[in-house]
Amino acid sequence: TKLRIGMIPADGVGREVLPAARAALEALGSSIPKTEFLDLDAGFEYFTKKGVALPEETVSAMKNDLDCALFGAVSSPSHRVVGYSSPIVALRKAMDLYSNIRPVKSVSKTPGERPSIDMVIVRENTECLYIKEETMSLGPNGKEARATRLITERASRRIGQMAFETALARGSSSLLTIVHKSNVLSVTDGLFRETVRGVPALPGVDGKYDAIKVEEQLVDSMVYRMFREPQVFDVAVAPNMYGDIISDAAAALVGSLGLVPSVNAGDTFVMGEPVHGSAPDIVGRGIANPLAAIRSAALMLVHLGYDGPAKKLDEAVDSVLRRGDVLTPDLGGSCTTDQVTAAVLKEL
Ligand code: NAI
Ligand code: MG
Repeated sequence: TKLRIGMIPADGVGREVLPAARAALEALGSSIPKTEFLDLDAGFEYFTKKGVALPEETVSAMKNDLDCALFGAVSSPSHRVVGYSSPIVALRKAMDLYSNIRPVKSVSKTPGERPSIDMVIVRENTECLYIKEETMSLGPNGKEARATRLITERASRRIGQMAFETALARGSSSLLTIVHKSNVLSVTDGLFRETVRGVPALPGVDGKYDAIKVEEQLVDSMVYRMFREPQVFDVAVAPNMYGDIISDAAAALVGSLGLVPSVNAGDTFVMGEPVHGSAPDIVGRGIANPLAAIRSAALMLVHLGYDGPAKKLDEAVDSVLRRGDVLTPDLGGSCTTDQVTAAVLKEL
């Protein structure tokens, strides 16, 4: 058997960190099936050249020829560009990658890190405000901009199931925190909250989640508690936008966005992706932290069932962090992407 992996570096530092993930996967040698990498296009830069951000060939390769993929980052402009739409949002939708799973963990002694953090953010990945249904009209108060926020029972149920499964995999008495704002948005967030709460009572569950402790946290106080006592959290499940925001906050608690991995997972496909963006402030200098990308490759392997090799990658990353002498500038070091990658490969 072979492992066919799509590589979509896209924009900015995505192009600098994805080669590190590839080198780490290659260094696993025969502990995983023979890997075959397929380079695929997407991104804003591609859009400026070709007029599309997500070419059809990329989607069809993922649907037909690949077992999994790794995505770098996109540079989506903050102003509206006619014809452009974020390819990562589109890809999650096209492949029905309905969950974004983001483990945030302190390793100990990493500069800027708070100790004893070990949580997983399970972010809904297909709806909420990110359906991007926005309109502009003219009213008595001048321009009126509106956005539609979609929360469906189906998407809330399947992200809820993913969250309970994630919690169960971490031990039968894990804690699951449902993040919402249903004191204000009682219809949309109310549906999310109730549907996730209803997962343990679904047919076929047969009590397997009974020992999981479920609590709720309004999103604003969630951020507060994450800064005050981040070590209490275990698994947190949130609608798309809250999940996006609390994951960047959580990344700050472990020292850098350059450390936090994720996978976009559906029922039939998985795509690893560092949580960070294209980092325009450091692009081109060869100093992007490659560890989030390498950890994303590990997380992708876990979702494909290769726990052992994934653990090897994670341990190599952790020991580079613990040694602390080969770090990129975001962690206070002065090493390059290549030097940090070489240190990981040496550990492997
Ligand atoms: P960002 O995540 O790119 O950068 C935020 C900060 O973290 C910057 O100071 C950056 O230097 C630092 N950082 C990020 N990754 C790093 C790494 N690997 N090593 C060291 N430092 C790192 O977020 P920002 O600046 O708000 O957005 C830049 C662009 O990225 C925007 O166009 C945005 O749309 C896009 N973006 C794309 C995402 C994706 O592809 N999934 C996610 C977030 C943002
Ligand atoms: Mg984000």
